[in-house]
Amino acid sequence: MKSMKRRTFIKNAALGSVISAFATKTQAKMSTPREAEGPFYPITPQKELDADLTRMVGKSGVAKGEIIDVLGQVLDQDLNPIEDVTIDLWQANSFGKYHHPHDTSEAPVDENFQAWAIIQSGVQGRFKFTTVIPGAYPLNSAQQRTPHIHFKIGKHGYVPLLTQMYFPDNPLNKKDGMFKRKSADEQAMMTAKRSANSNQYQYDIIMEKL
Ligand SMILES: [Fe+2]
Repeated sequence: MKSMKRRTFIKNAALGSVISAFATKTQAKMSTPREAEGPFYPITPQKELDADLTRMVGKSGVAKGEIIDVLGQVLDQDLNPIEDVTIDLWQANSFGKYHHPHDTSEAPVDENFQAWAIIQSGVQGRFKFTTVIPGAYPLNSAQQRTPHIHFKIGKHGYVPLLTQMYFPDNPLNKKDGMFKRKSADEQAMMTAKRSANSNQYQYDIIMEKL
């Protein structure tokens, strides 16, 4: 009887690991959900578009706010890495102000914040950039946008992807209309994961083949 129980336990444990592997794979196979471009895609030419948004060439200061690294990997729906993907990203500064002439909010401009970067995925589809956590900003008198980073992602042979990355455990996520209308699985894919005891966030992007 004892050995029967043990065999059943082993069988169930093995089944459990198969199910969890399948669940992970199934979730990963969904491509990164799309989101609106929003009104503030940069239109002012900018010489510097490198992966460190916290410093500007010719300026000695550092962007205000909590400095973070975002690391990720671009993958296809079979989880193969995709190299040489163009990752165009833009965001509000830590006060919630975009570097854009149509952003008329009274939040302060941060002259040391780069606000916009265009980077490529490299070996194994990996990418990394350094930035600050964007501030929330008012959408209208009743609603705020929760902190997010906008992405335009492109590679020949793949469906172009416009999306927004969110931050985990931000209480404003629950009140954000754009975030709330996504399913739980979609929200999970659009939300970066914070590495324990560090300022690093992991954000993987899954692209769909044309
Ligand atoms: Fe935005």
